Amino acid sequence: MTQNYRITLLPGDGIGPEIMSVAVDVLKIVGQRFDISFEFQTALIGGAAIDATGEPLPAATLYTCRNSDAVLLAAIGGYKWDSLPSHLRPEAGLLGLRAGLELFANLRPAKILPQLIDASTLKREVIEGVDIMVVRELTGGIYFGKPKGIFAAETGEKRGVNTMVYSESEIDRIGRVAFETARKRGGKLCSVDKANVLEVSQLWRKGMTKLASQYPDIELSHLYVDNAAMQLVRAPKQFDTIVTGNLFGDILSDAAAMLTGSIGMLPSASLGASVPGVFEPVHGSAPDIAGQDKANPLAQILSAAMMLRYALNQAEAADLIENGVLQVLQQGYRTGDIMSEGMNLLGCQAMGNELIQILEAK
Ligand code: IPM
Ligand code: MG
Repeated sequence: MTQNYRITLLPGDGIGPEIMSVAVDVLKIVGQRFDISFEFQTALIGGAAIDATGEPLPAATLYTCRNSDAVLLAAIGGYKWDSLPSHLRPEAGLLGLRAGLELFANLRPAKILPQLIDASTLKREVIEGVDIMVVRELTGGIYFGKPKGIFAAETGEKRGVNTMVYSESEIDRIGRVAFETARKRGGKLCSVDKANVLEVSQLWRKGMTKLASQYPDIELSHLYVDNAAMQLVRAPKQFDTIVTGNLFGDILSDAAAMLTGSIGMLPSASLGASVPGVFEPVHGSAPDIAGQDKANPLAQILSAAMMLRYALNQAEAADLIENGVLQVLQQGYRTGDIMSEGMNLLGCQAMGNELIQILEAK
């Protein structure tokens, strides 16, 4: 029996539309194979939405997302919109989407692919075998805490204010996702905070420690964020699952991504309690190469695989895509960001075509 899914596509800005179009082609191919029919609806977000409607997250977009089975997002932002006030910038659209769909858990895997070890800036022995999952809290912390804004102080000087705040229930719900995630992986969870300085981190650490008693099979450890950043580049293999707040997770997930050679390879999943998840690459909109057919579409394609796995329960289809990506790399095809000597350099579209040929032959 054909399974029907309604998927909202948010191509956004920069390289977004190029990589999205390749990912959609790939989804159509696996759809035919597994008798899955996708009803795609495209909606506006970010700079593209600002240009068309004056706001980065039109109400119609949020509505369309809510009424779908999953959301596939590419990337937002670009130089063009950089000088707008912060509530009208493309980034506000992304944050609004996360908040609007209550996507409090962001799963960012950073796994080294053997084919790409030489593309990493780090030594082979440091990164071979790295397989990390960063669980980033996504709807709280300093990104959303109040008070926030730029205010005039009594002295006449301006003051910029953001507030890092976590309530016990927010800590508890992201903690549970992280413990469950660690359980499905290597059974080790490292909670990252700044409890030597910040009260909000002291509460965070207490919450994680309390949860640990309900997950006796999981080995919980704690690191301060500065040390965690250092350990990630010094000896990344010590990590299995990392759980951390919104800002620290933003930073550490970029660092973890780069261990794998290119941020252009990594997908992510943003999940809430009972809403459609949003699946998106970890990388941004790369305005410097937009429209030139140079982008690496693989993170977008792997995000589509994550969507099949986590939102649609189509593990076999996800496996097919993930194996296909390994194979296309195995055959020596590379985009510029992961290029190394002796490999075959391809553009965005051509990389998609090679992958599709592999999928069709399977
Ligand atoms: C990310 C991005 C976003 C974030 C920006 C674009 C708002 O860096 O998804 O990591 O800071 O969360
Ligand atoms: Mg980021």
